[in-house]
Amino acid sequence: MQQELSPYLDWFTQYVARYAQPDSTEQQYIDLKHDHTLRVFENAGLIVATLPLDSVTARVALLGALFHDVGRFEQYRVYKTYSDRNSVNHGLLGCRILGQEQVLQGEPESIRKAVRATVAMHNKFALPIGLPEVVRVASNIVRDSDKLDIFPVLVSNFTRDGSKSDVVTLGLEEGKTQYTSVILHNVLHGKPVKYADMQYVNDFKLLLASWVFNLEYRTSMELLSERGAMEQLLDTLPALSEMDEVKRVVRAEMYRVLTSDVETKG
Ligand SMILES: [Fe+2]
Repeated sequence: MQQELSPYLDWFTQYVARYAQPDSTEQQYIDLKHDHTLRVFENAGLIVATLPLDSVTARVALLGALFHDVGRFEQYRVYKTYSDRNSVNHGLLGCRILGQEQVLQGEPESIRKAVRATVAMHNKFALPIGLPEVVRVASNIVRDSDKLDIFPVLVSNFTRDGSKSDVVTLGLEEGKTQYTSVILHNVLHGKPVKYADMQYVNDFKLLLASWVFNLEYRTSMELLSERGAMEQLLDTLPALSEMDEVKRVVRAEMYRVLTSDVETKG
């Protein structure tokens, strides 16, 4: 049974309150990450509940989920953007903030270190080889939980009429049918797509579609499928034959994972 996590939830709420913005549009960007964090924490709880984990790993995963984006608020305050490319690595910033704020003082050192490492790892392109097992598993849980939540948020950005925000679309070019070929190629071959290769909004859609290959746990795929956001995303792709191929590949991968016998993918 998990030791009470509510003091950490309270700390988080108070921490975010420090970043209150006088301008209501700017406040929305703060709220976006606050609400996102709570949903990621909830997703992590759902995934943790389906896995046979020891109590330390489960605790690191849940605390890692709660604090994964703690760096976002300082990032926004200083740089007014959530683009790491145009500012700082928010995972590393969050890891540093947890140390400065001494939030995890009540935890054993091993948990403190593992939570901070999980926060630092959550937004890495790929996890490095040789991570301690607790950090590796917790990071995978947080990464899946994060993707599951940010996914519908980003998709709704493409399905909403007209209004779009470059804080969320990372300042990409609109170009109705334009896309970057290396990104299409990687999606079709189940390879990871790099943020740095993105040029158009369609590239961002393709990057999101490629996440079907990046979820670690079958429970994550079940949640993605139940919530229907992948189909919503596929609906927003331009009417081009190569995009029909993307849809086919993405649906086949979902089906493969959902019908497999093992809990972990790949
Ligand atoms: Fe993040």
